[in-house]
Amino acid sequence: MAWQRAASLSSIKDGAVIGVDVGGTPVALFNLGGTVFATHNVCTHALALLSEGWIEDGKIECPLHQGQFDIRTGKALCAPLTEDLRTYAAKVDGDDILVDLDQPGARPPVS
Ligand code: FES
Repeated sequence: MAWQRAASLSSIKDGAVIGVDVGGTPVALFNLGGTVFATHNVCTHALALLSEGWIEDGKIECPLHQGQFDIRTGKALCAPLTEDLRTYAAKVDGDDILVDLDQPGARPPVS
């Protein structure tokens, strides 16, 4: 698989998330201060769309049972979550957001 256009950067406000379909895969696209992150859009706990959740401090809170994931790493941060979220590589080209479903997303630098 290769980079696929997923959305326009201008369609996601800073601090917001949208849900898109990328080649049949539900993907959540996050804009955190102008940097785009992509994850699978379905919660790992049950059937809920994370694009309908809430963002705070780099975390997405699931709208169904309030489980939280780290947007940058996909790490499950609290109960009832037991499984991390899949992340995807994302980059911006002009106003296009491109996603590669075969590459994991960016990781923060190890401190
Ligand atoms: Fe997301 Fe339960 S469906 S925490």
